[in-house]
Amino acid sequence: MQNKKYHIITYGCQMNKSDSERIATVLENSGFKKSSLEKANYAFLNLCSVRQSAIDRVWGKTNQIKKNNKSAKIILTGCILPSEKNKFLKKAYLILDIKDLDKWPDILCPTKKTQYPCPALREERGKDDNVALVPIMTGCDNFCSYCAVPYTRGREKSRPAQEIIDEVNKLIVQGYKFIILLGQNVNSYNGGVNFPELLKKINKISGNYWLSFITSHPKDISDKLIKCFKDCKHLIPYIHLPIQSGSNKILKAMNRKYTAENYLKLINKIKKINKNINLSTDIIVGFPGETKKDFDDTMKIFKKVKFDMAYIARYSPRPDTAAYKLKDNISLDEKKNREKILNNLLKKSALNKNKKIINKNIQVLIEKKKNNYYFGKTRNFKNVKIITEIKKLRNKEIKGKNLIGKFINIKVTKANAWNLEGEIVNQLCE
Ligand code: SAH
Ligand code: SF4
Ligand code: F3S
Repeated sequence: MQNKKYHIITYGCQMNKSDSERIATVLENSGFKKSSLEKANYAFLNLCSVRQSAIDRVWGKTNQIKKNNKSAKIILTGCILPSEKNKFLKKAYLILDIKDLDKWPDILCPTKKTQYPCPALREERGKDDNVALVPIMTGCDNFCSYCAVPYTRGREKSRPAQEIIDEVNKLIVQGYKFIILLGQNVNSYNGGVNFPELLKKINKISGNYWLSFITSHPKDISDKLIKCFKDCKHLIPYIHLPIQSGSNKILKAMNRKYTAENYLKLINKIKKINKNINLSTDIIVGFPGETKKDFDDTMKIFKKVKFDMAYIARYSPRPDTAAYKLKDNISLDEKKNREKILNNLLKKSALNKNKKIINKNIQVLIEKKKNNYYFGKTRNFKNVKIITEIKKLRNKEIKGKNLIGKFINIKVTKANAWNLEGEIVNQLCE
């Protein structure tokens, strides 16, 4: 046991975060114990290859580990591009494929067996954790020309619907309040039923919980899915719908298979079902050949849609992808400039949308406390700070109680671009 201490460092998206929970389960089942990075015998780095900056951070981290904990064996996993494996191997003891997680115990400790996908080690995550990430599929078949994911994660593979329903059922019984279904492209889920059908089945599970999903590809959003926002009472009014660019020329070069017009139509259909739905997106600025006119088109669609949130990335060439062959011809300064322009537009649209909620009474799920204040999420996925200091909460129903994981009613007192502020108006909602 002495030499089986592990530490996991996670880079990248929610999918990786969820995988790290499962890695922890497999390791604990094989007799490993979690420790600090300094004391670990095994340092697991769960990698993201979407942008070069994440890779650069890994190089820095491996050097730091080698300096501060010389005996640690560095094991790399997660999203690694095939052509970068050899380079990484020079820095690490071992690379383990996340797709083979069920075989890791045999490699690391050849006596125990674990199933994959196995339940995340949720007991480890503490009572205060109320959001559960549930992968419903892995991989991606879309081959957007800039993207590493199809190469690092392989082809799409859906988990059987019943297995997902059983897992969600258990999570709700355990007290989880917010279930987030994960996949690179949840709309092409096909585990016996299609994605809207899966949502409807999960929605039938009784209990007081919210349901959401990421990520959707605009080309695959069906009317049936949009209708779920009306029919499924647990599904929160939030959709992350990456557009990447507003220029049809660039969308074509990205191999996205939709036009700016298709995207706008979709947004209008969604807004018809719920005009207050939270819309977020991903954008890449400075894709090869993106002219000022192309960027203008992106600005135009930004102004039309009025996103609540957008993750704006500067194009980063990735080996193995189709776009890698194109010249990365937009300068870093110009990429930064375009990023800034979009961020300013976003700030305005987000603030305007948030201002509409001022003075309204809404439901909030309390997620954490920090420096004597509670923080949570609204039902449409906005961050909220409760402005009353925890020790000054007077209402007798909540005074002295741990509110983390509870739904409460608040009145919104202030709107900022990235969050809301509010005070508790009355009792718990359950
Ligand atoms: N499956 C998700 C995206 C996964 S990658 C989807 O299709 O939406 C997350 C985001 O990273 C992408 O939406 C894209 O905006 C960004 N991204 C991917 N590859 C990139 C690259 N080479 N350079 C810059 N940003 C990139
Ligand atoms: Fe990457 Fe496109 Fe697949 Fe998303 S849909 S993971 S951006 S290839
Ligand atoms: Fe996620 Fe990055 Fe992999 S975005 S799927 S961790 S390449």
